[in-house]
Order: sequence, then C-alpha cells, then structure tokens
Amino acid sequence: MTASGTFGYGMEYDHPFDIQKLGAIVCKGTTLLPREGNPQPRIAETASGMLNSIGLQNIGVDALITDKAPVWAGWDVPVIVNIAGATIDEYAEIAERLEGVRGIAALEVNISCPNVKAGGAEFGARPEMARQVTEVVRKATTLPVIMKLTPNTNAIVEIAEAVTDAGADAICLINTLKGMAIDIAGRKPVLGNIFGGLSGPAIKPVALAMIYEVTGKINIPIIGCGGIVTASDAIEFFMAGASAVEVGMANMINPSTPMDILEGIRAFMKKEGIGDIREIIGAAQKST
Ligand SMILES: Cc1cc2nc3c(=O)[nH]c(=O)nc-3n(C[C@H](O)[C@H](O)[C@H](O)COP(=O)(O)O)c2cc1C
Repeated sequence: MTASGTFGYGMEYDHPFDIQKLGAIVCKGTTLLPREGNPQPRIAETASGMLNSIGLQNIGVDALITDKAPVWAGWDVPVIVNIAGATIDEYAEIAERLEGVRGIAALEVNISCPNVKAGGAEFGARPEMARQVTEVVRKATTLPVIMKLTPNTNAIVEIAEAVTDAGADAICLINTLKGMAIDIAGRKPVLGNIFGGLSGPAIKPVALAMIYEVTGKINIPIIGCGGIVTASDAIEFFMAGASAVEVGMANMINPSTPMDILEGIRAFMKKEGIGDIREIIGAAQKST
C-alpha cells in the first residue's frame, strides 16, 4: 500500500507502473474543510530521512466526494481515505459524509493531530482520547476502520488495546516522529512550523519495535509503516507481526518503489519456498 500524503489521490502522476496492481492506495489526509497547510518551508532533509510539516493541506471532504471518489469507483485497486480532525466531532462528521460514497474501500484515521479542545495534545498520545475517536468513527461508518497510531507516546500497547476495544478493524503503525532542524546561519528553525514529522529509514527501527511489542496483544491486523524502502525492509515488518505494509517517503525518491517492493517480496517468497505470506507474519516472534 502507499502511505498517506506521499501518493496524492493516486491520480496526479504519470506513474511508472500500473497502480491497479497495488494492494491499496491510501490518499492524502482529508479534513472537513479545505486547508492551505502550514507556512513554508515545509520539508527538510535529515540523515536517513526527512521532516515534513505540510499541515494537512487538502481539498476537504466535499471536494473529495465530488471530484475524486467517482474516479476511484472505476479502479480495481482499493482506495482508503485517510481522515483527520481537530475535534472528536469533526472526525465523526467526516466519517458520516463518507458513508455510502462509492469508490472508498476503508477509512484510515490519523490521530496524530492536535485536539484543539484538549490543549493541543495529540489525540493518539493517550489511550482515552484514541478510544473516543475510534468510537465515534466506528458509529458513523460501515466501512472498515484503520486507526493510524502515533509513535509520539509512551503507551503504544495500551493505545492499540484501547482502539481495538473501541471497534477498530485494523491499526497502522507508525505515523511520523516529532522532530525539528535548525538553520545555524539564520539561528532559527528550518521549518516554518518549527516542528515537523520525521519519516524515512531513520524511523524504521522505531516502527519495528512498536509492531513487535503490539503483536500478540491485540486480535486485529497491524499494517506496518515507517522507513520501508526495499523488499527486505517490508519482510522485516511482516516478520515483526505486520499483515500488510505501507510505503511513504520512498515514493518521493523513486516513484517505482511500491512495485519494486512487491516484486522483491515475490522473489523472496519464491527463493525461500514460501507459498503464502502468512507463513512469515510474526515469524521473528516465534523465535524469542
Ligand atoms: C510529505 C508527507 C505527508 C504526509 N501526510 C500524511 C497525512 O496526511 N496523513 C497521515 O496519516 N500521514 C501522513 N504522512 C505520514 C506517512 O503516511 C507515514 O506514516 C510516515 O511518513 C512514515 O512512513 P515512511 O517512513 O515510509 O514515510 C505524511 C508523510 C510525508 C512524508
């Protein structure tokens, strides 16, 4: 799958491969109203990764329903809509509007957003807030609900358990890690928003550790994400316990990455005599 925010709405680019062959496309984060996003600069390169503070620039849910979903409805590849809110009610409202819209396979709920009614703490940082968001979205939709968790917490297992109890169908681990960079000549932060989200190979060990810890504690599938660039990265995620993977930042370096990874996974399975990917899901857990 492609990770939210790194593949647009799936239709923008002249893709170097047939996107219909992907497992799924996760679209850009979608909010109730259109958003212009954060002040520039919004991205900065780091050692083995990048920082972004796009600030959820997007067309808003109504334009997504009228302009994007009808195109997706004609595709073979499932499209998952990533949603974000500033309040619990906003998450509910977006999910309600998307209910029954053709062309949407599932909702992925980004809870790495600040809760404006709780002093700006990320919804996903505490089990109780994560549970509340899951409950309202669950009530508002008949689509599968994937809760995308933030790594910016010390309670990842409790949060995974809370969203599972509240009715999530799957979780995605992980979103970006909070970070910043400083321009030493200007003596100021590089990003217009000061802080951004760190993604890329730098965060892969963090993502793997979180998936490894959560696996076995919940009875719903885990979608792994964070720093996947090669097929062997993806295979590490499966062996940690993920049932599927998303590719993010790597799309920005080489837009063929998701297809290269898919082909690399197939080649690995053939070489190792693996008939079904499920044979290796959680394989590294069994050896401990
Ligand atoms: C430019 C950019 C924009 C992103 N936008 C979103 C977003 O709108 N919603 C979301 O849930 N995650 C967003 N993410 C996070 C990615 O989907 C992914 O979780 C994260 O980057 C880690 O994966 P990676 O290391 O493969 O990039 C964004 C990441 C990048 C680099």
